[in-house]
Amino acid sequence: MALKLYLEAINKEIAEHKYGNHPQELYDPLEYIMSLGGKRLRPALTLMSANLWLYNWQKAVKPALAVEVFHNFTLMHDDIMDQAPIRRGQATVHEKWDTNTAILSGDVMLVAAYELLAEVEDANFKHVIKRFNRTAAEVCEGQQLDMMFASKENVSKEEYIEMIRLKTSVLLGFALELGAIVAGADQESVDLLYSIGVNLGLGFQVKDDILDVYGEQAKVGKQIGGDIIENKKTWLMIDALEKAEEFGVVKELNTWLQKETFDNTEKVTAVKAIFDTIGVKQDAEQAMHGYFNLAFDSLKKLNVSEDKKQVIRSFAEDLLNREH
Ligand code: IPE
Ligand code: IPE
Ligand code: MG
Ligand code: MG
Ligand code: MG
Repeated sequence: MALKLYLEAINKEIAEHKYGNHPQELYDPLEYIMSLGGKRLRPALTLMSANLWLYNWQKAVKPALAVEVFHNFTLMHDDIMDQAPIRRGQATVHEKWDTNTAILSGDVMLVAAYELLAEVEDANFKHVIKRFNRTAAEVCEGQQLDMMFASKENVSKEEYIEMIRLKTSVLLGFALELGAIVAGADQESVDLLYSIGVNLGLGFQVKDDILDVYGEQAKVGKQIGGDIIENKKTWLMIDALEKAEEFGVVKELNTWLQKETFDNTEKVTAVKAIFDTIGVKQDAEQAMHGYFNLAFDSLKKLNVSEDKKQVIRSFAEDLLNREH
């Protein structure tokens, strides 16, 4: 089945789904962020996974939308936490409205995600909710670590990987797992799909870190250099800190990390120049490929036909090469 069909089904469901209308001020930001587009990769993963076993993959559309709504809820709150001005090329909700509005609309989105998830068959309901709850709690745990790491001096690559496994990867894992559960797949396949998603997610977040520095704003739709401005311990920053001594840039890098007031553009340009001197982009790309390869290895073990696996493989390759 072509990816285009999955995306069409998701976008149709997004356009038609009614979340609530009173007071409109609560639901407008929800409709706004959902209408801004985005790659819709998580619901696509759910449908792809369901279609590995299920001819009638449309059965997974509402659960797939639940994952997308949850993701958009995390973005709305993430943008407050990261003080991000732009999302998908448009003003973030807390900028367009205000922070309180973004908090509360985000809250009702989490409820909307549960409502959509409750559309799964009764026989799967308890299992799905249990797995979703674990995933959602883990995303919060990862987001908390991400905030704490910004002011923590020595963050190791291991700590970073655990942080992104929680904040990003488990949701990609759950998206694939959910499709398999809805399709009634055996537990071994369900577990395998989860681990494929988690490894894809690790590579995906390293790529997100790379794009935050080296992407084009018009394509990425986010403020370039946002992570540098916020002192985020991204893969690139940790790599730079590890190699700063070898390249004689320790003092310069620490000065920028410790500055309390600065011009954003000046800081981004200076830190990027340090990253370039060290060559952190190449290191990060290598790490990213490593995680994608782990996902491809797990995919090989999955007991479904080659042509079905190919849909997931080529989707993952597109994620690897994406510019947004
Ligand atoms: C952004 O996710 C947040 C991360 C986990 C890196 P996406 O890059 O999937 O964002 P959209 O949904 O396509 O806008
Ligand atoms: C976001 O990580 C992860 C979640 C939203 C849970 P980032 O903060 O790197 O995502 P972007 O770059 O703002 O999309
Ligand atoms: Mg962010
Ligand atoms: Mg963040
Ligand atoms: Mg990011």
